[in-house]
Order: sequence, then C-alpha cells, then structure tokens
Amino acid sequence: MAMLKVVLTTVVGAVGALAASRPYSSAYLEKQFSQTFADSYNILKYVGGIGPYSDRTGYGIDPNPPPGCAVDQVIMLMRHGERYPDATTYGRLEAVLRKLYSSGISQWSGDLAFLNDWTFYISDPGYLEQETFSGPYSGLLHALRQGSEYRARYGHLWDGDSVVPIFASDYERVIETARYFGMGFFGYNYSTNAAINVISENATRGANSLTPSCPADTSLLACFYASRSLPQFNVAAARLNSQNPGLNLNSSDIATLMSVAPYELQARPYSPWVDAFTLDEWVAFGYIQDLTYYYCSGPGDPYEVAVGQVFANASLALLEAGPSHGTMWWNLSVQTPLSCAELQFNAFFFDFHSAHDANITPVVAALGLDVPSSPLPNDTIPFPNPYRSTDIVPMGGHLVLERLSCNATSAPTPPGVYVRALINEAVVPWPTCQSGPGFSCPLGDYSAMIARGPNFAQMCNVSALGYPEYLDFWWDFNTTTELNFQNGSIPWQQTYTRVNG
Ligand SMILES: *[C@@H]1O[C@H](CO)[C@@H](O)[C@H](O)[C@H]1NC(C)=O
Ligand SMILES: *[C@@H]1O[C@H](CO)[C@@H](O)[C@H](O)[C@H]1NC(C)=O
Ligand SMILES: *[C@@H]1O[C@H](CO)[C@@H](O)[C@H](O)[C@H]1NC(C)=O
Ligand SMILES: *[C@@H]1O[C@H](CO)[C@@H](O)[C@H](O)[C@H]1NC(C)=O
Ligand SMILES: *[C@@H]1O[C@H](CO)[C@@H](O)[C@H](O)[C@H]1NC(C)=O
Ligand SMILES: *[C@@H]1O[C@H](CO)[C@@H](O)[C@H](O)[C@H]1NC(C)=O
Ligand SMILES: *[C@@H]1O[C@H](CO)[C@@H](O)[C@H](O)[C@H]1NC(C)=O
Ligand SMILES: *[C@@H]1O[C@H](CO)[C@@H](O)[C@H](O)[C@H]1NC(C)=O
Ligand SMILES: *[C@@H]1O[C@H](CO)[C@@H](O)[C@H](O)[C@H]1NC(C)=O
Ligand SMILES: *[C@@H]1O[C@H](CO)[C@@H](O)[C@H](O)[C@H]1NC(C)=O
Repeated sequence: MAMLKVVLTTVVGAVGALAASRPYSSAYLEKQFSQTFADSYNILKYVGGIGPYSDRTGYGIDPNPPPGCAVDQVIMLMRHGERYPDATTYGRLEAVLRKLYSSGISQWSGDLAFLNDWTFYISDPGYLEQETFSGPYSGLLHALRQGSEYRARYGHLWDGDSVVPIFASDYERVIETARYFGMGFFGYNYSTNAAINVISENATRGANSLTPSCPADTSLLACFYASRSLPQFNVAAARLNSQNPGLNLNSSDIATLMSVAPYELQARPYSPWVDAFTLDEWVAFGYIQDLTYYYCSGPGDPYEVAVGQVFANASLALLEAGPSHGTMWWNLSVQTPLSCAELQFNAFFFDFHSAHDANITPVVAALGLDVPSSPLPNDTIPFPNPYRSTDIVPMGGHLVLERLSCNATSAPTPPGVYVRALINEAVVPWPTCQSGPGFSCPLGDYSAMIARGPNFAQMCNVSALGYPEYLDFWWDFNTTTELNFQNGSIPWQQTYTRVNG
C-alpha cells in the first residue's frame, strides 16, 4: 500500500509539472466520466413515495439548457420535503413494534439482531407530520439546499428587485418547505422579496387550488392497495420468525416494518431495517406503492388525470404568455389585462404542492409523462417497471417546466420557443413531442397537446357544485411578506395550518 502511494504521488507530481497551466490536484487521477451506473440497486428506488428524495434515473439528456437556448421562465411544483410519518402511520408503526417487543424475546438474532441496540427514532409525537430537521436526509435541509441550487441555476430570471410569490398549500410541512426553499433561493433578500402565499386545501376552492379534488371520482375510496400483500412478504415473515422463535409476524406486519426504514432515514443517517429485508422484498414493497399511485392518483384513473389538467392548463397559460413585458396577461377572474407592473412577476413561478404527494402524480399524467402503454398488472411485478413512483414523488419530489428561448441550434429546428420537463432533475421528453433542441417540445405543439386534455370542471362535477372552475391564484396573489417566517401567533395562519399550528 505504501509503495503504491509513493508511485501515484510521483506520477501526479510529474503531470503537474508538465501542465503547469492547469491546477495541480488529485483531479488528474479522476475520470472525466464515471463508469458506474449502479443506482438501480439503490434502496431509495424501491420505497415509493415514503422514502427520502433521490434524483430520477434519467435518459442521459443534459439538464443544462441545450446550446443556443436559454431558460426564460420556470414553473416548479414540489412536494414537501422529508418528514415524520403522519399520525395514522405512526399508530401502525407503534402497534407492530409493540407486537415485536411483547413477543418475550430477550436476545434478537439473525436479520433482527440489530434490535438488541436499536431505539425508535421519534422521541416526541409533536413532530408527527412535520418536516424532519436532523441527519443528511433532513427535509428542511433539502428545501434550503434546493433553493440555493435553483438560485445558481435560475437566478438570472430574477431582476434583483421584484417581489416573487411562492405558493404553498395549507399544511404546515408544506409551508415550511416553501419558507426554507425561499431562504435558500433569496438568501439575504428572502425577508423582503419573497411572498409566501398560502392556498387553502378546502375542496370548495374547486380548480382554484394547488390540491384540487374530484367529487365525482367515487372509485377513489376503494383504493386500498397499501394493504395488499405480495408473496415476498410471507417469505420475509417466515424467515424472521424462524430466526427468532416466539415471534409471530405475518405479511401485513412485514409491510409495516419495512416502512420503518424509509421513514427512519428521513431523520437519521442510517437505518438498520434496510438490511433486514432482501432486494426482492424491497422491489415488492416499492411496487405496491407504484400500483397505488398508478390506479389511485395517476394515469390509471381518468378522473385524476382531469384533476392534473388544472395545473397543466394554468401552466400552459403562463408558458404561452411568457416572461415578456409586452405579452398580455389575463386575470382570469375578471378577464382584464394586467398592467406592466404586475408583469414583472411573471418570470417565476415557484409552486409548492400539497402534503399529498397524490397531487403531483395526476399532473404528470395530465402532461402525458410516465404513462405506461398498458395498465400495470396487479399480480406480477413488471420488469422493467414502466411506472416507478419513486422516480416521481419521493419526499421533496419536484416537476419543473422550463420555457426555452432558442436561437438556431444544432437540432433541425427553427429558432423559437420550446418547452421541456424535468422530473427530479432528469429531463423527461414527451413521447410524442421531442423534435426540439435537447429533445424539447415546440411551444405550439405543446399547446395543442395540452389543450386536448379533459375538462376538469365538467368531469369532476365542480361546475354542478358551484366551485371555481379555473385556477387563478397565480394571477391574484398577495405580495405581503407576513408569512415568510414561522410565527404561530398570526391568527389567520393558525386557521391555515393543521398540526402544531
Ligand atoms: C441568441 O442570439 C443573440 C444574438 O446573437 C445572442 O445575444 C444570445 O446570447 C443568443 N442566445 C443564446 C441562448 O445563445
Ligand atoms: C438584497 O440584499 C442585499 C444585502 O442585504 C441588499 O443590499 C439589497 O438592497 C437587497 N435588495 C432588495 C431588493 O431588497
Ligand atoms: C371549507 O370551506 C367552506 C366554505 O367556505 C366552509 O364552510 C368549510 O367549513 C371549510 N372547511 C374546512 C375544513 O375548513
Ligand atoms: C354532480 O353534482 C350534482 C349536484 O350536486 C349531483 O346531483 C350529481 O349526482 C353529481 N354527479 C356526479 C357524477 O357526481
Ligand atoms: C397480522 O397480525 C395483526 C395483529 O398482530 C393483525 O391485525 C393483522 O390482521 C394480521 N394480518 C394478516 C394478513 O393476517
Ligand atoms: C388491477 O386492479 C384494479 C382494481 O381492482 C382494476 O381496476 C384493474 O383493471 C386491474 N388491472 C389489471 C391489469 O387487471
Ligand atoms: C383547459 O382549457 C380549455 C380551453 O380553454 C378548456 O376547454 C378546458 O376545460 C380547460 N380545462 C381545465 C381543467 O381547466
Ligand atoms: C384579479 O381580479 C380580482 C377580482 O376582481 C381582483 O380582486 C384581483 O386584485 C385581480 N388581480 C390582479 C393581479 O389584478
Ligand atoms: C393577503 O394577506 C392578508 C394579510 O396580510 C390576508 O388578510 C389576505 O387574506 C391575503 N389574501 C390572499 C388572497 O391570500
Ligand atoms: C409574531 O407576529 C405577531 C404579529 O405580527 C407579532 O406581534 C409578534 O411579535 C410575533 N412574534 C414573534 C415571536 O416573532
């Protein structure tokens, strides 16, 4: 080992001397390109929507704008960051752990040997449903980091002066995510230039919401995939029971115990529960979540696609108008053009989505992304799996629509305006619209594609109920900075937040 080190040092020294204009660093030993693409084996890819964030496995398209193109508008829809479980899940975790500990086993062995030292990670029930704040996967840290990364990427769109709205639905964890993102993005200017707008999740807001729901979608209540079992869970139960005589776990206990791992990781750097289960068991665990998202809030439920169309339509209006001050903007509630002063806000739309991950999957489906060519099978696990929820809505999962303004590029396309989508940092091209630079979609074709979507107001019966039929809060927002910081004593914030408010 010592010999090798000397030799390497000498080589580095020699190269450094020859290429004096380049920095002398260990970078000479690093490959320009990684030869490793082992992320498919990462456990984070098999925990569906309840695991810490991971970037999407991409198609190999550069996330930087294609040469000759510049981003001139960005619309982001982001799930809240990593969090503690909700009260219902906590109850389930607590029950199964009580079952374990009441089995009378004093010395754990086999795959559960870690239980001899392990302690539960939630010390205070007051944290339930809230963002996590400890460890490398912390939800608050994630939001802050994302804000500062996006400042580096999209900071050119802010003129350094305008007040920029940040929309959050009214769960406390969502509002906290929006705040930390804003602090990351605006830095010292957060207190004066960001304006957190809290949008109620009340169904009576109809389409004018970040979290529209579909009163006509009566099948939704029957969506109980989460309680489904797969044979892999019986195998795991038998293994753990045989390693620890006296233990009497069944398949549903296994599904609950497995969920401890992704939740624990959101507050701790390490969860020993991950290694208690095999890769096949994790794949099964992840697939149950994929089925749930697909059939209950994704492309497998036409009503939910109509729900997603609300955002698709409203964001199309923004993209068509573009950031230019010369473009007409319409206040949908009164149908009058906005003034130039208001237009300056238009470059940005940072949009924070609801507590319910299930508000992003419908949008992705309505945009025509991640739509498998045939329905997901209920009894087998397809491989490769065409609908991986962990690639769409892990904690902090986000969809970004970029409007690209392009000069002549190397692609055989004219200069003009193009649209592309990034899901969790990976460029995801539209299967039927990718003729633009970097596999982007020409704006005209994009508009035609989105305009073909379903009519939410009719299909979901919100017209009959008299609820708003269009999203217009993007054009009708508050510029107050009053909600930018945590302050539980603001009375009207208390009515908006649900937990620990
Ligand atoms: C497009 O062309 C104009 C005029 O030559 C130039 O100023 C601009 O930087 C170009 N934009 C991009 C994204 O290359
Ligand atoms: C942004 O913050 C810097 C540093 O505090 C300050 O000098 C500048 O005036 C701020 N800009 C605005 C528009 O508030
Ligand atoms: C939702 O809004 C309606 C009408 O404004 C109101 O009557 C109802 O109490 C609200 N529900 C909740 C849960 O706040
Ligand atoms: C739509 O709403 C109307 C009025 O509330 C109701 O009579 C009708 O049954 C609803 N239809 C569906 C499909 O939910
Ligand atoms: C597993 O056991 C728990 C109680 O220990 C019970 O509530 C649950 O219904 C059982 N599940 C199955 C599939 O038998
Ligand atoms: C899976 O189950 C759901 C709910 O029972 C059903 O609607 C769907 O058609 C099934 N999918 C397939 C491919 O059979
Ligand atoms: C989207 O816009 C089109 C055309 O303006 C309209 O027909 C459709 O109902 C809208 N859908 C939603 C969900 O707003
Ligand atoms: C949009 O119209 C509503 C209803 O008239 C009005 O209250 C609001 O101030 C308008 N928004 C803007 C940005 O002009
Ligand atoms: C704007 O903020 C004020 C408090 O400053 C609040 O009373 C009002 O309801 C808010 N309006 C909207 C549309 O959020
Ligand atoms: C919270 O806000 C209220 C009203 O704006 C203010 O009076 C109070 O001092 C604030 N409390 C803290 C701890 O910032």
